[in-house]
Amino acid sequence: MRQRIVAGNWKMNKTRDEGLALVSELSNMIADEVSGNVQVVLCPPSIYLAAVGKMIQGSGSIALGAQNCHQKAAGAYTGEVSAAMLRSVGVQYVILGHSERRQYFGESNSLLKEKTDIALEAGLTPIFCCGELLELREQGVHLDFVRNQLTESLFHLSNEQLRRLVIAYEPIWAIGTGKTASNAQAQEMHAALREHLASRYGQETAQEIRILYGGSVNASNAEELFASPDVDGGLVGGASLKSREFTDIVKAAAGKS
Ligand code: PGA
Repeated sequence: MRQRIVAGNWKMNKTRDEGLALVSELSNMIADEVSGNVQVVLCPPSIYLAAVGKMIQGSGSIALGAQNCHQKAAGAYTGEVSAAMLRSVGVQYVILGHSERRQYFGESNSLLKEKTDIALEAGLTPIFCCGELLELREQGVHLDFVRNQLTESLFHLSNEQLRRLVIAYEPIWAIGTGKTASNAQAQEMHAALREHLASRYGQETAQEIRILYGGSVNASNAEELFASPDVDGGLVGGASLKSREFTDIVKAAAGKS
């Protein structure tokens, strides 16, 4: 049985006070309501990581995640944050290859290979994002496209390294649009990705990997999305900015909604 994960990606939202108020509400609400079966990950902007980390210290069910890291270990990269720096302030997870990073910051599959390596080396768990544009789905090449994202960025990893990863399937046409993939669309992709992992790493490893769904997950559609056998939780953007809504999504993952 794979432990479900619900990760909240705040993106570039919230001032410090707003962010800390949200964490304070969430730590009360989630402590009461979540079963031990769901790992919640909060991914605030990096400038708040240390403060958020302090607030959730000692909480078994809430972990800290970053939204990105640089691909190099250290050096003259003005304005960047390294994986080891994140780890040193208590970060456990890092989102890599979010479609916004791919689109606006030109992150390629080969760059994400480097980022995955450095994150693992620093002891972080990457939440590796993949997903297709609508036109690729309409052309019927979405499965191949997303499989290839995994092949090019991850298939150099050893079995032991891959097991430390979480994957997030986020169809780009569903991010921030209010349009979600149907259950059948999500399940089809998640099962295809698990099969793809199995072809390289074997069934046993593939069955262990958590594959999250992302793209307009909210309190009303979470339960249905999480019911698909290969959907192991969600990567949540907009709805992670509201404590009640995010808590309801966590409850859905815990089977308590
Ligand atoms: P959304 O974002 O839930 O606002 O669609 C999801 C994501 O980009 O991770």
